[in-house]
Amino acid sequence: MKKRYVSFSILGALILLFGIGLWVHHLEDQDFYQKGGPGWQMGNNPPEKVDFRPASNPLYKNSCGGCHFPFSPGLLPALSWKLILDRLENHFGEQVSIDPRSREEILNYLMENGADRAGSKKSTKIMNSLNGQIPLRITEIPIMQKKHRGIKPEVLSRKAIGSLSNCVACHTTAERGIFNEDFVKIPD
Ligand code: HEC
Ligand code: HEC
Repeated sequence: MKKRYVSFSILGALILLFGIGLWVHHLEDQDFYQKGGPGWQMGNNPPEKVDFRPASNPLYKNSCGGCHFPFSPGLLPALSWKLILDRLENHFGEQVSIDPRSREEILNYLMENGADRAGSKKSTKIMNSLNGQIPLRITEIPIMQKKHRGIKPEVLSRKAIGSLSNCVACHTTAERGIFNEDFVKIPD
């Protein structure tokens, strides 16, 4: 009996220590990554601050990042990416030509990482907001329209912006997958 009691106390103490350790670690993390903190200056962000994993496939970035920012795959469902890649000969008024093998690789990359597979909080919100629709544009997604409805058309038509599709014009951290409003700067 006595021996058992002692081992339970040790277990209890260990659990308590572990808990305190986790809590301290959490506090340090917050400090480290705070705006202006060392983590921030290093350009590192804790994973939970990334809203959409940035584009990583080099072929995709080269082929699709020339005219606009290479949108994160998690911004659209897999089937939207397929629709877009199936109609590159008329891509929003532009003709995009990519050889069939590259197109296939890009399509696979985008579909494997689409909003329905990304598993992130923001991608799940996009899927819920779409409710089965397959949009051709990120800017057509209801939750995206809702988030941007306060921006007036005359702001969007400013030379430095052009349209809502130009995410990087306002989201200074878009290339890092961060769309948090703290890092929005609307150009004059
Ligand atoms: C020749 C230039 C060009 C290339 C290359 C190009 N795009 Fe585009 N893309 C455009 C234009 C122009 C628009 C419309 C932008 C606007 O409405 O302001 C657009 C819009 C888009 C949109 C919709 C953005 C929104 O409004 O939500 C997506 C998604 C997209 N492109 C994906 C791709 C993918 C994937 C590729 C590579 C296969 C690609 N683009 C290559 C010119 C290009
Ligand atoms: C004209 C400037 C502008 C452009 C262009 C723009 N945004 Fe935004 N975006 C904003 C502003 C301002 C907010 C903050 C709205 C609010 O919360 O009040 C925002 C909010 C968001 C949010 C929500 C962030 C959050 O934490 O709730 C996401 C996601 C987002 N934008 C993605 C995009 C994407 C993707 C594009 C390009 C397809 C884009 N935005 C283009 C200005 C812009």
